[in-house]
Amino acid sequence: AHAHIDIDPRFTIGPVQRRLFGSFVEHLGRCVYTGIYEPGHPTADEDGFRGDVLELVRELGVSAIRYPGGNFVSGYRWEDGIGPKEDRPKRIDLAWHSVETNEFGLDEFAKWIKKADSELMYAVNLGTRGVQDALDVLEYSNIRSGTTLSDQRVANGSPEPHNIRMWCLGNEMDGPWQLGHVSADDYGKIAAKTASAMRQMDPTLELVACGSSKPTMPTFAEWERVVLHHTYQHVDYISCHAYYEELDGDLDSFLASGANMDEFIVSLIATIDHVKAVLKSDKTINISFDEWNVWYNKRWHTEDKPRNATDWRYAPRLLEDQYSVADAVVFGSLLISLLRHADRVTSASLAQLVNVIAPIMTEPGGPAWKQTIFYPFAEASRFATGNVLRLNLSSDTYETKMYGTVDRVDAIATHDPESGALSVFLVNRGADESAEVTLDLGNLLEGRSVQATTIADDDVYATNTLDQPDRVVPQMNENVTVKDGTVAIVLPAVSWTTLTIV
Ligand code: AHR
Repeated sequence: AHAHIDIDPRFTIGPVQRRLFGSFVEHLGRCVYTGIYEPGHPTADEDGFRGDVLELVRELGVSAIRYPGGNFVSGYRWEDGIGPKEDRPKRIDLAWHSVETNEFGLDEFAKWIKKADSELMYAVNLGTRGVQDALDVLEYSNIRSGTTLSDQRVANGSPEPHNIRMWCLGNEMDGPWQLGHVSADDYGKIAAKTASAMRQMDPTLELVACGSSKPTMPTFAEWERVVLHHTYQHVDYISCHAYYEELDGDLDSFLASGANMDEFIVSLIATIDHVKAVLKSDKTINISFDEWNVWYNKRWHTEDKPRNATDWRYAPRLLEDQYSVADAVVFGSLLISLLRHADRVTSASLAQLVNVIAPIMTEPGGPAWKQTIFYPFAEASRFATGNVLRLNLSSDTYETKMYGTVDRVDAIATHDPESGALSVFLVNRGADESAEVTLDLGNLLEGRSVQATTIADDDVYATNTLDQPDRVVPQMNENVTVKDGTVAIVLPAVSWTTLTIV
């Protein structure tokens, strides 16, 4: 197969938004307990935070981390997780049918996130709670001192405010599975009230209204229209979520998932801008794609889900998907899709971070290792700098059952006008053959060196495991030639490549 790409740094989509490289920590399974937090682990620090995990999180390059959920947040009482640990209540978590000990809460997460060199993004409970609860957690977190709640934070060992800038107004309130699920009209009203109350405390907060939980939600687009009608003047973002998986052995469609994500984003932008036009507003609402990943959701519903009413476990192994090479390629193409819309998708969160549908895995008392999806994320987070470029890309296509005709090769590039560094991220979604790609770069190549690494394998289902943590790692791509302003590269079937010109 063949593809050709013209790259010109004058054609930009917008700046690379650092917040695109966000992630998500939910009280779910072993994400927190034995994931980021495990007192007694050989690498644990004085706070019980796993040092091996912190190191990997820093290497991943995560910009902002959403916390504490997810479905979990819709039944969560944030004040359960503060104060002396021995006084914290043990609760039932209905979302994941688990026991929540509350040994880890907001103050621990705020401390952890500093050590992770990241930023805290907090979701309030609009499922079983509302305006007052949101105001309380905001006051506890962001007011310096001198009020009961802020002084409580100080007394609990955090003299400095957590200063959380970005707040999600609930989670997936469009989903019938969500605790406290309501109609778009009801959610729009409560979100608007909560947002305007929070802004009375701090008008500079960045607020996210809940959009759709997946592109296939029957209410998608109509939900956003109604919610935005109520919240337009009060929020900065509307969220969206999407997860993809290979279904019924249809690898071709799975590999084309990015095409679906593109369509989802385009439809959402159209919906936002429709409301903007109706309201005659000059304000633009952007997208917080605050859950995205490959997730074997079908497996969760058919195998993993605790069904027994007496089965309430602490830190159970839930959603511990093992990611393959094919998953990493799909994951990479989702990243390409996010970057391609960097003008409107200005925040995104890889769901999730550790153990639960995650780039990082751990064994209790044992090691931590990188899943295949770790690599595309870490490379894009590190090398995507400056501006995202609008590419002129032509590629051979292939047919898919789910998404019609799709380009075999997809790519995005970034260019840093200051350093001149150029990065190109490419996928070959073709399952049957390699792709020869030529990139026309004009004088961008002058005096610079070209390097490429690729993730591919003869077995597209190969994964990294506890026993073989480095089964799949990026390899130097030796099939690169540079001539007269053109780079030619061969992308193996089902592969992700990062090409850097520095
Ligand atoms: O990330 C796993 C779950 O997926 C989240 O809790 C929920 O928001 C979504 O449905």
